[in-house]
Amino acid sequence: MKKLLALLLSLVMVLCLAACGGTAADSGDAGDAADDTSAGDAADAGDTADDAGDAASGDLITVGFAQVGHESDWRTASTKSAQDVFSEANGYELKFVDCDNDSATQLEAVRTFVQEEVDYIIIDPIVSTGWDTVLTECEDAGIPVIVIDRTIDDSDKYVSWVGSDFLVEGQACGEWLKAYAAAKGIEELNILVIEGSVGASATIGRTDGFKEIADREGWTILDSQSGDFTEAGGQEVMESYCQSYEGQFNVVICQNDNEAAGAMTAMDTAGVTYGVGGDVILVSFDANRPYVQMVLDGKLNANFECNPMAAPTVSEIIQQLEAGETPEKEVYVTESWFVAEDDVTSITVNGEEQECIVVTQEVVDNRPY
Ligand code: AHR
Repeated sequence: MKKLLALLLSLVMVLCLAACGGTAADSGDAGDAADDTSAGDAADAGDTADDAGDAASGDLITVGFAQVGHESDWRTASTKSAQDVFSEANGYELKFVDCDNDSATQLEAVRTFVQEEVDYIIIDPIVSTGWDTVLTECEDAGIPVIVIDRTIDDSDKYVSWVGSDFLVEGQACGEWLKAYAAAKGIEELNILVIEGSVGASATIGRTDGFKEIADREGWTILDSQSGDFTEAGGQEVMESYCQSYEGQFNVVICQNDNEAAGAMTAMDTAGVTYGVGGDVILVSFDANRPYVQMVLDGKLNANFECNPMAAPTVSEIIQQLEAGETPEKEVYVTESWFVAEDDVTSITVNGEEQECIVVTQEVVDNRPY
């Protein structure tokens, strides 16, 4: 009889648990059951929180940005511009990766964005080649890619590019140097170039543009080496130039501001004077505010702007895509040329007259970055 009662009780419990959706395992221990319940609740609460988060971010546009790195003041300004524009307050969620100037890291970042199913991908390509496969992957995933600053030269599988005309920057530098040397009565130009990072379109364009004018004018480019767009790189290259070409050069072209800072340190140590009234004409690219101040101070003779503020235009492009419109394939940012003296106030580049802005304190104070 006892056995029959126990059997009946077990049967009732099993039926009851089955009705409540439990399992035989759950029924084995009340503590386990309680744990399972709380664990389940926690998971459910997490799901609910996620759902709430999804709901809250439902209107946010997710943007993955594979940034070159943090090698220069210009790069810092570019990153800040993106972080300001692609903020939650502006309706975006930004996934930012600093690729530390490593192409493999940058490809991996883009692939991670694809896996994460972001809405848009922004790439500032460290180098201009090797992009077609990963851009095809983005295209297959239906994620529009917008390229900024540097160009991609071996694929057109992106919606838009926003950036600078690096060739024109280099040509403008050459045309200004020609006019400045003529104004100062300098007949022979012996030039050292500190290039940017190898394979970057910024380096390629500036080098080619300047060389075009140098070749046309018959100037001597004594040497042209990469300083990797960094202050340390600029200093290292200039230290070696000061030894190898002692007393032989009167122009140093640095392809960005940070390299120019490094070159100044090296020339200070070597006892070479530069800038207005110096032994060497010193020129830079980027025109970050502290370096436009150096133009005003006469430490740099000229500085050719590279505008890092692409993000607002990229946001406009994204909004166009959201509205089903077709953005422009190429958008050039506007740029200015800054000079220390008023000998040359305009140059002609590719048949177009362009202003050279003689820097005043007001010009420095109004620089946006
Ligand atoms: O691609 C733009 C260049 O990259 C800037 O001139 C330089 O400062 C940066 O590192």
